[in-house]
Amino acid sequence: VDAPGDRRIELPDGAEMVVRPGVVGDIDGLAALYAGLPDDDIYLRFFSARRPGRELFERMVSVGERGGALLVAEVRGGGHAETPGQRVGEIVGDAWYSLVPDGDGEFAITVAPSWRGWLGAYLLDALLEIAAARGVPNLEAEVLLRNRAMMALVRRRGCVRMGEDGSSVRVAVASAGRIPSWPPAAGHPRALVEGRRSWAPHEEAARRGIEVVVCPGPPARSAQCPALAGGVCPLVEGADAVVLSLAPGDDRTRELVRAHHRLRPGLPVLVTDRSSPPDAEQPVTVLAHTLTDEEVVELVLRELGAAGKEPPR
Ligand SMILES: CC(C)(COP(=O)(O)OP(=O)(O)OC[C@H]1O[C@@H](n2cnc3c(N)ncnc32)[C@H](O)[C@@H]1OP(=O)(O)O)[C@@H](O)C(=O)NCCC(=O)NCCS
Repeated sequence: VDAPGDRRIELPDGAEMVVRPGVVGDIDGLAALYAGLPDDDIYLRFFSARRPGRELFERMVSVGERGGALLVAEVRGGGHAETPGQRVGEIVGDAWYSLVPDGDGEFAITVAPSWRGWLGAYLLDALLEIAAARGVPNLEAEVLLRNRAMMALVRRRGCVRMGEDGSSVRVAVASAGRIPSWPPAAGHPRALVEGRRSWAPHEEAARRGIEVVVCPGPPARSAQCPALAGGVCPLVEGADAVVLSLAPGDDRTRELVRAHHRLRPGLPVLVTDRSSPPDAEQPVTVLAHTLTDEEVVELVLRELGAAGKEPPR
């Protein structure tokens, strides 16, 4: 209850829930939690029908030794002791991250079916608190697009998309504040796509060596978009090019182009032709909606090249 991430909650029936770091003694509790998951949850969590073995739980409880963190939610006492199938000290959820080479953490969350509805978000917040306290800037996760619950959870935390492969996406949430940053060791060149949840040319751009982050930006972030609020957006700050895609007639496009030029003079800005026409004095490349993904990526590469930011060969 004193360390970052620790929580204690009184439950209505006299039981209490404790959120605390997982330890070796939790291996059996974790095994019971995963044994109780339906097949589809196993698939959503592991991208495979194979149920995890004990080595996963051993890896989870020792992740702290490798710079990561594990939190478990444990329910103790109260009516839960009498409920069939529920034991005292039952582990009803876990959230953990391990460090990945780009300098962020990679996380996963599991909540027992009967405890879903709020616990997932609660555990994610507690885990983000630990990451922030340890200077890990973002937590990333690989999520199946059909995992609606997980997608809802990360969207609510203002996630951006870092990768896309048809059936799954790589998302990132900021550990402190609402706006994720580029991972500390992310490569170049970097294209920030704003105004969309997903970007059709994402995979093609990645294939051509561009690091891409897709941020819904305004309108999804509305008041929270730091670039519009006159502040500094960490994603714009670290980008080599920006692609803007906002609704037609939206004059926030103009405001954003101005804000980006102010923050990063000379930063290549491309706008899709869905966006309102830019001001004449602000040089931008317009991406016609008739372009193929390949053509869009060609134009982004041309702008990056003109700015001296070609992908490494
Ligand atoms: C992902 C998970 C941890 C979320 O748990 P939770 O936040 O406690 O609760 P829920 O599952 O009810 O989902 C939370 C949100 O998803 C929404 N949601 C749930 N099922 C949904 C569905 N089928 N379609 C659309 N939205 C859905 C809920 O309405 C809620 O959104 P809100 O916060 O905007 O109201 C939990 O569902 C889980 O353990 N799933 C299996 C393992 C897994 O997939 N883990 C993530 C992969 S790393």
